[in-house]
Amino acid sequence: MTPSANSRPVALITGASRGIGHAIALRLAPKHDLILVARDESLLMAVAAECEALGASVQCIAADVQNALVTAQRLTGLHVDVLVNNAGVAVMKPFLEMTAEEWHRQVDVNVNALYHVTRAVLPGMVARGHGHVCIIGSTAGRNTFVGGTCYTGTKHFVMGFAESLMLEVRDAGVGVSVITPGSVDTDLFPAGTNRTWMLEPQNVADAVGFAIEAPPHMLVHRLEVRPLSPKRPRAS
Ligand SMILES: NC(=O)c1ccc[n+]([C@@H]2O[C@H](COP(=O)([O-])OP(=O)(O)OC[C@H]3O[C@@H](n4cnc5c(N)ncnc54)[C@H](OP(=O)(O)O)[C@@H]3O)[C@@H](O)[C@H]2O)c1
Repeated sequence: MTPSANSRPVALITGASRGIGHAIALRLAPKHDLILVARDESLLMAVAAECEALGASVQCIAADVQNALVTAQRLTGLHVDVLVNNAGVAVMKPFLEMTAEEWHRQVDVNVNALYHVTRAVLPGMVARGHGHVCIIGSTAGRNTFVGGTCYTGTKHFVMGFAESLMLEVRDAGVGVSVITPGSVDTDLFPAGTNRTWMLEPQNVADAVGFAIEAPPHMLVHRLEVRPLSPKRPRAS
């Protein structure tokens, strides 16, 4: 990654307040300055303090990425070298039990926010001739399951969006990667779910690191990571 005008590249991470986004922030903090986006400002501030202890300068932006106007106002024109589109929601329930609000929220956060956030940040990358857009997809982007009508639909969208965007901007020096994890131990799942067998958020963060740290001429476009049983303790 070519450095920004600052001494360190800048990474913008959506959904950085918890779960996988929090882990990505910690993973990138030693080598990047960070812009952290989510709705919960107090959680963002706590993540920022952890990242600053690892050497990053951090800007927190409390914003709902469903809101096109707010997202454009807050993000347009920011210098961003690495964009991690991570914010996402999941409501796993049979179609006939799903409310219109649950349907629209998943489409708004998992699909429409990709437009709002990427549209604000990508022009600067293209103008500078370098950058990386990394999107957290899911194995649900090529699988189906009962209760997944909307969630799997949104993640199938992510796969088409990511590959098409990659083809559009790679000749401008901008890489597009999609990381597709299997199940990850986060609060995306309802309380009471057995999560002991799942991937850890840090595993997904390491996959993001692998994608964005590839040599300049090599693009890791699609990277699938899955849990392997038995779950192994993480090396310190
Ligand atoms: N967990 C898994 O098994 C799994 C597997 C494959 C892929 N994924 C994907 O990984 C991504 C992260 O999921 P996670 O497991 O880390 O979930 P999580 O722990 O529930 O975290 C979701 C993050 O998204 C943010 N977010 C949600 N709605 C938002 C909105 N309207 N505006 C701004 N930020 C919003 C949340 O922040 P606030 O609430 O503070 O706004 C939070 O930081 C998602 O795209 C998910 O689909 C997860």
